[in-house]
Amino acid sequence: MRIGICSDHAGLEYKTKTISYLLGKGFEVVNFGTDSPESCDYPDFAHPLAEAVEKGEVDCGIAYCGTGNGMAITLNHHRGIRAGLAWNTAVAGLVKEHNNANVLVLPARFISYPMANACIRKWLGTEFAGGRHKRRIDKIPV
Ligand code: RB5
Repeated sequence: MRIGICSDHAGLEYKTKTISYLLGKGFEVVNFGTDSPESCDYPDFAHPLAEAVEKGEVDCGIAYCGTGNGMAITLNHHRGIRAGLAWNTAVAGLVKEHNNANVLVLPARFISYPMANACIRKWLGTEFAGGRHKRRIDKIPV
């Protein structure tokens, strides 16, 4: 599986650790930045990740910013993206099981790195339930 990943400056440390973790587990990782601790604008990194997911260049994505909201709002402007914010493992599982989120968004300033890692493992390890949830996500695009 090929996973795209991005962050702004607030998520850089967790992104760097996450890339090492994923590579160690045998995933392919495509890093869309930022790779600098300088203050930056999250849409500059969210849009390239979203486009890569939409084009099928990566299978799914992970995005970090301070609250997660800037990344989630930006990513969800893309028609082919269902970006879901998670802050614990229950939510991380449900955002795949119920919403089939193809990008997991994590709030780096509000959860520990071990929790971020646990959310990623839960999200990757959970299957979309389909059924009534498929009917619901099919009603999302406008
Ligand atoms: C950066 O200060 C912060 O605004 C950003 O990381 C994110 O939380 C925005 O939604």
